Amino acid sequence: MGKIKKLWADRDNQYRYFRWLMSYSKPYIGKIALMMGINLVSTLISLWMVTISKRIIDNATEGNQFLTLVLVYVGLMVAMQVIGVVSYLLATMMNEKFSFGIRKQIYDKIINSCWLDVKKYHTGDLMTRLTSDAGNIADGIINTIPGIIQLGIELLLVFFTLFSYSKLLAVLAVLIAPVAALSCWWLGKKLKKLQVKVQESEAAYRSFIQESLANLLVVKAFANEGYYVEKLSELREQRFFWVFKRAKMGMASSTVMSMAFQIGYIAAFAYGALQISKNLITYGTMSVFLTLVNRVQSPVMGLAQQVPKVVSVLASAGRVMELQTIPLEKKLEEHIRGQEIGVRMNQVSFGYTDEPVFENVSLDIKPGEFVAIIGESGIGKTTLIRIIMSFMSSVQGQVTFYNSAGEMEPSNAGTREFISYVPQGNTLFSGTVRENIQIGNLNATEEEMWEALELSSGYEFVKELPKGLDTVIGERGHGLSEGQAQRIAIARAFVRRAPILILDEATSALDEKTEQRVIKGLQALTPRPTCLIITHRKSILQYCDREIKIEDKALVSEE
Ligand SMILES: Nc1ncnc2c1ncn2[C@@H]1O[C@H](COP(=O)(O)OP(=O)(O)OP(=O)(O)O)[C@@H](O)[C@H]1O
Ligand SMILES: [Mg+2]
Repeated sequence: MGKIKKLWADRDNQYRYFRWLMSYSKPYIGKIALMMGINLVSTLISLWMVTISKRIIDNATEGNQFLTLVLVYVGLMVAMQVIGVVSYLLATMMNEKFSFGIRKQIYDKIINSCWLDVKKYHTGDLMTRLTSDAGNIADGIINTIPGIIQLGIELLLVFFTLFSYSKLLAVLAVLIAPVAALSCWWLGKKLKKLQVKVQESEAAYRSFIQESLANLLVVKAFANEGYYVEKLSELREQRFFWVFKRAKMGMASSTVMSMAFQIGYIAAFAYGALQISKNLITYGTMSVFLTLVNRVQSPVMGLAQQVPKVVSVLASAGRVMELQTIPLEKKLEEHIRGQEIGVRMNQVSFGYTDEPVFENVSLDIKPGEFVAIIGESGIGKTTLIRIIMSFMSSVQGQVTFYNSAGEMEPSNAGTREFISYVPQGNTLFSGTVRENIQIGNLNATEEEMWEALELSSGYEFVKELPKGLDTVIGERGHGLSEGQAQRIAIARAFVRRAPILILDEATSALDEKTEQRVIKGLQALTPRPTCLIITHRKSILQYCDREIKIEDKALVSEE
């Protein structure tokens, strides 16, 4: 009883998933309808073929019209083949287009959502939702749901055709329906949970592979190869456990269905044979009986087989919809202008968890100022930058940008236009050096890139690379030294020429001399940006107008 209640209580969710699916598929409804239309024609032709085959059998003994009927039959068969090919090609095309469409929408959503909320998901999990779950949904919209509607129509058509030959047989044939319905209901209930488990274990498995390959060096450095291979098998075992459980469940129900089906067929067969022996029907009618009984039962069976698919589509829709609940970033369209921009924080509090990192912090960084941010590791320096860059949605208090004319704008996703940022750690992409620098400014010219490299002390080593700017580097700057990667990341920020420049320990891998050259380059930027530099190095402080120290969830300003 409890289970029934639960399923009933969940109906709102199921309905929500379904509505969401429908709204996603709106642009494709015309084409889906076309496909269904084609398939309906094919059903009608096949029914026509059944009646013709009866006439062929019955006319064989008498001979008239025999040849014509055979020719018509062959013609229809060819038509069926053509329709089959067209419908297959159409389905393939639709499937590709739709699954890409849905992936694009999910990707777009993820990329425009709040960074911190997205980062709560493992990359491997997001990948699973984007690929496997999105694929399930596409399959559901393109194949499963139209398939169900079509099977329903087919069932009705065949039922009434059979009904016109024999009322008794038609009713007997659909007696299988209650068995099917019961097994569907039972199966659907069990399968939903299993399907979510299958997708979760898939996500865990993918996350593991993705992360261990990305950190291969660590795996090897600690000689953990064996352990990781073992762990992979463990995760595979978990996935196998759920997949197999799901398969067993599916088999149990389809065996029950198949038995019922066989019994129905034998009943029709026996009934037909009896009728023939009493000369009540012809051999042709007998063949119609058998074909039609078969054809009533196969859509019923087909419908039952769609249950696991529907369940899997709904489970995937739920997982993808969960991503829809991540808040989208707020982005203002109109921005304040000017090359001189400052930032003000007023009574700002923030914590990743209940434990605050900042409490009622206020700060004013004036346009053109050169400020160092210092403080011990883990105190909140990077967090302060993330607040300024509005990467987090749950910040209390106000963060405002202002220009020298006194115009103000609250921080939002759009105010990142004002900022050139060098994040902490290696953030290079695989691809050429040029592509990496252009991330900072997609319209940067060759000249501007070299200039930025000059100022970030990267000019010489890039010049000496075998293909200069077109040298290909690997993931996270693989192929460059850490300090070289940092200088490219700095050039990427310089080429943006935004009014505010933020460096988060951007020179930590550089020797003192190179670091000084980078700071001098930074000061030579024209127009000169407002600068925020996070650093542990005392040597940088001499270049700054003032230091802001983070201490005990608060800011202490020192001249
Ligand atoms: N995504 C996160 N979720 C939860 N807590 C976090 C997250 N990122 C950082 N923290 C916590 O917030 C605090 C401040 O971290 P932050 O990265 O701002 O320190 P930091 O001053 O930049 O340190 P470092 O000098 O080592 O880079 C730390 O205690 C850290 O554990
Ligand atoms: Mg940090």
